[in-house]
Amino acid sequence: MPQNTRYGIIGCGMMGQEHVKNIALLEGTEIAAVFEPDAQMRAAASRLAPDATFATSLSELLARADLDCLVIASPNYRHAEQIAQIADSRPLPLLVEKPLLTDPDDLPRLTRIAKTYPAPIWVAMEYRYMPPIAALLEAAPAITGGVRMLTIREHRFPFLEKVGNWNRFNSQTGGTFVEKCCHFFDLMRLVIGHPPVRVMASAAQSVNHLDECHQGHTPDIIDNGYVIVDFKGGARAMLELCMFAEGARFQEVISAIGDQGKVEAFVPGPTRFWPTDLGPAPTPLIEISPRHPKGPELRETPVDPRLLQAGDHNGSTFYQHQKFLDLVRGHLPAPAVTFGDGVWAVRMGLAAQQSALTGQAVSL
Ligand SMILES: NC(=O)c1ccc[n+]([C@@H]2O[C@H](COP(=O)([O-])OP(=O)(O)OC[C@H]3O[C@@H](n4cnc5c(N)ncnc54)[C@H](O)[C@@H]3O)[C@@H](O)[C@H]2O)c1
Repeated sequence: MPQNTRYGIIGCGMMGQEHVKNIALLEGTEIAAVFEPDAQMRAAASRLAPDATFATSLSELLARADLDCLVIASPNYRHAEQIAQIADSRPLPLLVEKPLLTDPDDLPRLTRIAKTYPAPIWVAMEYRYMPPIAALLEAAPAITGGVRMLTIREHRFPFLEKVGNWNRFNSQTGGTFVEKCCHFFDLMRLVIGHPPVRVMASAAQSVNHLDECHQGHTPDIIDNGYVIVDFKGGARAMLELCMFAEGARFQEVISAIGDQGKVEAFVPGPTRFWPTDLGPAPTPLIEISPRHPKGPELRETPVDPRLLQAGDHNGSTFYQHQKFLDLVRGHLPAPAVTFGDGVWAVRMGLAAQQSALTGQAVSL
């Protein structure tokens, strides 16, 4: 019998638990150790991974001799320091949650670390693996004839409550365009296939969290905005974000258009937020709309209900872990989402934050 692949989980709150549930669906895997400082989250994690050992520090977790790979799902502002500590003491294959970093001052050091890190580093970008978005990624080149315009519209619920309210402040998240929209900047680069050259944004915190106070401070995070990105080669992309719009049927609508036609993906939000009295949650869709001959075609891209149960991201965490496991076992030559992809997504997010603040376009 081959040995189980043994994971160490760093941070086991909402997303860490989603990782644990999805890893559990993969044959021959085991959650061996967890470092989670919050007692309530630790208790929830131990119900999901009863055989795991709970370390009291990251150093203690890294000192274990029997780990094969690591997953970082701690708050954003911890990622850079934890990557550095791991690189120093136990550089195992690593899946690190987005965003890779929040403070641009950490970038030179992290880049040096990534160059000499002796194992693969995969940056978690679950959106790439949602079935309707994967279908759009596959269909876009042939249907569009080359994407000239990409629009990503996200209309969703406000940020959820997190341990210690870390997600309420730009200083700990990198800002909304870094924290959550790095996914969309990653998709823009992936679909368009060229580097971004300029970012323009208009955004504000208009509605959410304004009546909250955490240790004497009111949250300062953007809840709505537009970002326009110009790409080398002439394509352009736009993000429309609204975080007080969870009444919508679909959470994200993504349209990719070229001179041959258009592809759209319709992505529902987390199934657990869909009111049961409204019947079944919406099925994800893509619509293929060639120009000649005209004839838009709607296709369902359903998600396995077992995967919907294991998280809030349309099954994508499972598909990502399938590939990460292939990488750890040596069946995949390199990470599908590289350190460089993670850095680009953060740079675009930081540029959008800066543009929204200054009213000026930011060149990259
Ligand atoms: N890819 C996605 O779709 C997606 C979705 C949600 C969250 N995330 C990312 O996952 C990470 C965790 O977010 P979350 O929603 O689970 O937040 P969370 O607050 O629910 O969980 C974070 C956990 O980390 C723990 N923690 C705090 N300091 C730590 C430290 N120094 N070391 C280890 N653990 C520590 C907290 O106690 C908490 O339980 C964030 O980086 C977030 O951006 C990604």
